[in-house]
Amino acid sequence: MNNLTIGEFKNIFENYLQKYLSSLQEFYPLTDSFKYSILNGGKRIRPYLVYLGAFAVANKNCDNVINYIKELSIGIELIHSYSLVHDDLPCMDNDTLRRGKPTTHVKYGAGMATLTGDAMLNAASEIMLSAIDNEESMKCSYVKDNVLAQVNATRYILNNSGINGMVGGQCIDLKEDKSSYSMQDYIKMNLLKTSALIKGALIAGAKRFEASSFVIKNLEIYADNLGLIFQIVDDILDVTSTEAVLGKSIHSDKDHNKITYIDYVGLEQSKIDCIEYASKAKDAIKQIEKNISNSEVFYKLIDDMLNRKY
Ligand code: IPE
Ligand code: IPE
Ligand code: MG
Ligand code: MG
Ligand code: MG
Repeated sequence: MNNLTIGEFKNIFENYLQKYLSSLQEFYPLTDSFKYSILNGGKRIRPYLVYLGAFAVANKNCDNVINYIKELSIGIELIHSYSLVHDDLPCMDNDTLRRGKPTTHVKYGAGMATLTGDAMLNAASEIMLSAIDNEESMKCSYVKDNVLAQVNATRYILNNSGINGMVGGQCIDLKEDKSSYSMQDYIKMNLLKTSALIKGALIAGAKRFEASSFVIKNLEIYADNLGLIFQIVDDILDVTSTEAVLGKSIHSDKDHNKITYIDYVGLEQSKIDCIEYASKAKDAIKQIEKNISNSEVFYKLIDDMLNRKY
């Protein structure tokens, strides 16, 4: 089976997500706010990364990879969406536009937005672990221990989402006085707030198919650098794009006193540095080219992320 393109994957994923959301208990207005916050035009890059990590390891031996990563891909998108709902709150970035629509707290109030994020985080853990009870998700004969692989993948995502990952990075981002921050501090913040979920997604997919520690190590280097590129491009787009294209408020970083990569090296050098991070990511894939089946997709994704416009 060939690797699905991101567009093909996204179509399947949106169906999974719709089905999952229709199974949620109605709890007015929380369920509406929950659906509003996730069904709103996200690029779905993290779910796609779960798929890529899984496909890289499993493809030669298993032709319906996507069947086994359904719950992990929904789980990571729930965690990502919760991180955005909380990131936009007045007590954090205080943003009013997300994915082209009013942010969750603008539409439902700050209290309901806080609860929406809370509910999404719990729902993510639950769906990822519920896979263990789903025979369809557990029957991959290529994997020695499906239950253990699912638990390990889930644990990796949860670890990278919390204090050791995304939440830790958001904590650094939130500090009022950043005058003493060095470039290294800034890079550490991005590795946590942005790379950690990207890495969580990719490695969870690989762990679901019992990837070797050598493959995991190189995929981690790839994901760390992909995350850095992703956040620096996000910082660049904040000053170069338009609200209509981006679906978020522009100049949000300056307006909210955020430190960005551009503050350290300027706009042009930021773009040049991204190419440097891209080559580190590609070098890591080179190390495992013989162990994985879709190295060209990993190279292409880096170029797509360098050139993304939204
Ligand atoms: C936005 O992530 C938050 C950052 C880490 C910069 P995305 O750009 O992936 O947001 P969506 O999911 O497509 O809206
Ligand atoms: C977001 O970074 C990182 C998260 C963990 C949500 P930003 O604050 O720059 O993301 P946007 O620009 O609001 O999407
Ligand atoms: Mg933020
Ligand atoms: Mg923000
Ligand atoms: Mg931003």
